[in-house]
Amino acid sequence: MKITVFNGSPKGKKSNTHRIVNPLLEGAIQAGAQTEEIFLAEYNINHCYGCFSCWTKTPGKCVINDDMSNLINLFFESDYVGMATPVYGLFMTSILKKFNERLLPTATPHIHKNEDGSCYHEERMHYPRFFMIANAGFPGEHNFDLFKAYMASQNPVLEVYQNSGGVLEEEDWPDENVKKRINEFYDALRKAGKEMVTNGQVSENIIKTIHAELISDDEFMAGVNQHWDEEIAKGV
Ligand SMILES: Cc1cc2nc3c(=O)[nH]c(=O)nc-3n(C[C@H](O)[C@H](O)[C@H](O)COP(=O)(O)O)c2cc1C
Repeated sequence: MKITVFNGSPKGKKSNTHRIVNPLLEGAIQAGAQTEEIFLAEYNINHCYGCFSCWTKTPGKCVINDDMSNLINLFFESDYVGMATPVYGLFMTSILKKFNERLLPTATPHIHKNEDGSCYHEERMHYPRFFMIANAGFPGEHNFDLFKAYMASQNPVLEVYQNSGGVLEEEDWPDENVKKRINEFYDALRKAGKEMVTNGQVSENIIKTIHAELISDDEFMAGVNQHWDEEIAKGV
């Protein structure tokens, strides 16, 4: 089984997004999967021209010559594809959005109606199953409303929405409770990765632990505001 995660953070390996993806993939590897995390910021991906050549003149092929053709091959070689991103302006980064728009050649122009009444393009080849990972800078579930709407029609195997993402940057939290909750969060992600491979789904109790609060809003905001005051004072 192959699992590929497309990480849309501009910070790549240093991102909070990667801090979430990593334990999930560790769990999947332990269960025997082959995994890959693609840091999209390192690739040459142009924006879609909207020319629809990939539907007419060159069905299934984009006219743009960049890294997307290899990434689309990787997409179809995968059994599960994870889209992972920080929240930027209440949705995914432009890096991941651009990648998603460039998946247009993977669909045909023909539209069909799903059982729930929603209308979508036909898939050119069988799509992998999806999971979504998003981390936000502020507290608040509202940061994930657009993601939830976006994923509603995709039947995702898992959605991971973590707010106050900066809490993951601190390696050694002085507050033992926060430290414990972060470890539980990473543990639950490892278990989720394992279950995805072994059961094709993730149990409710693991999903609940993944979404448990890591830090109170007030504690987080006090820490963040102090951090930025120090950075502003240093002028960095
Ligand atoms: C341009 C920009 C827009 C952002 N928009 C939001 C937002 O709408 N909501 C939010 O909670 N955080 C927002 N953030 C904060 C990031 O989501 C947060 O810092 C995140 O943890 C960064 O993740 P990363 O390390 O994986 O890149 C924004 C950050 C940037 C740079």
